[in-house]
Amino acid sequence: MVDNIPDNSGASTFCKIVPEKINIEPFTMVIFGGTGDLSQRKLLPTLYHLCTDQNLPGDYAIIGFASSKRSDEDYRTLVRKAVEEFSEGPFSDACWERFSRHLYYVSGNFDDIESYKNLSRRLEEIARPTAKGSKEIIYYLAVPPHFLSSIFERLSYCELCRGTFDTRLIIEKPFGRDRDSAAALNALISKSFDERQVYRIDHYLGKETVQNILFFRFANSIFEPLWNRRYIDHVQITVAESLGIENRARFYEEAGVIRDIVQNHMMQILSLVAMEPPIGLEAEYIRNEKVKVYKTIRGMDDEYIDRFTVPGQYGNGKISQRAKYKVVQKGHKT
Ligand SMILES: NC(=O)c1ccc[n+]([C@@H]2O[C@H](COP(=O)([O-])OP(=O)(O)OC[C@H]3O[C@@H](n4cnc5c(N)ncnc54)[C@H](OP(=O)(O)O)[C@@H]3O)[C@@H](O)[C@H]2O)c1
Repeated sequence: MVDNIPDNSGASTFCKIVPEKINIEPFTMVIFGGTGDLSQRKLLPTLYHLCTDQNLPGDYAIIGFASSKRSDEDYRTLVRKAVEEFSEGPFSDACWERFSRHLYYVSGNFDDIESYKNLSRRLEEIARPTAKGSKEIIYYLAVPPHFLSSIFERLSYCELCRGTFDTRLIIEKPFGRDRDSAAALNALISKSFDERQVYRIDHYLGKETVQNILFFRFANSIFEPLWNRRYIDHVQITVAESLGIENRARFYEEAGVIRDIVQNHMMQILSLVAMEPPIGLEAEYIRNEKVKVYKTIRGMDDEYIDRFTVPGQYGNGKISQRAKYKVVQKGHKT
């Protein structure tokens, strides 16, 4: 809604744009890996923010699902610590009170059918229906990648994908290890979920700086006419982190930085920097333009890799005087 508000000087008018209020239906989010690093540092503080900004409905539930034994109360204590440590805004006891009563915990093993039956029982008990009577369940998979297929199979076996619940599936990157394993995962998911239910996410795209690239490029009348090969010699994309690998050495040993950063975050930024204007802001239009960019990128052969890439290996180091890991050059081509 736009209100025209008279300017007292009488010289001009300005517009006050009132943000649209979105009506969010009751939902239940099951966070697989609800005690892990991603959940503690990002997901749970973000959900808390949504609560403090009053962007959550009155009825919702967040269920952490992980292997360690905990009660609902223990889980609330863990989440409180995470929110206090990692939340960007000030912590408020009153907001915490409102938020924490929606938190639950299910202890189980991702490989064990009994754990899913237990989860199903708790969902029946906890999940609240929407106005239309359906129960909206979001499965957020914040888990090490090697668990994905096991989880899809067991959700499907226990009939937790379609039918009783209206479900959505959110999958954190990395999605597979390479093209073949990603295709195999897609094939497995499509047996139990329709594509409209599936969200493969790269949280980098939610960062404000990244989101602003499109507006900066296409809505800024100074840069829009200049952003092309006639005026730009080359583009460098730097991923500058203030974090080391922290306690993720095991994950890093398995995935490596190319899978963790380059083929998702950096390629997404590259496409936003290089794509043509999409015909609309819907996901499909943006995705189509990104795909066109990827199709124009030449593949790297061995000679190109030898000449233009420098791989490295992390070792001991410091960031802001704290002991961390640094990348030490290991030589060309691994
Ligand atoms: N951390 C990040 O900043 C980040 C960023 C982007 C994407 N990701 C992706 O997010 C995913 C999770 O990463 P993370 O760093 O959060 O991993 P993490 O810290 O290792 O957490 C793993 C979670 O899975 C649970 N778990 C492990 N084995 C289990 C099993 N057999 N049965 C039940 N629960 C089990 C753990 O529960 P217990 O603690 O109870 O064992 C824990 O909650 C990965 O795919 C990663 O690539 C992470």
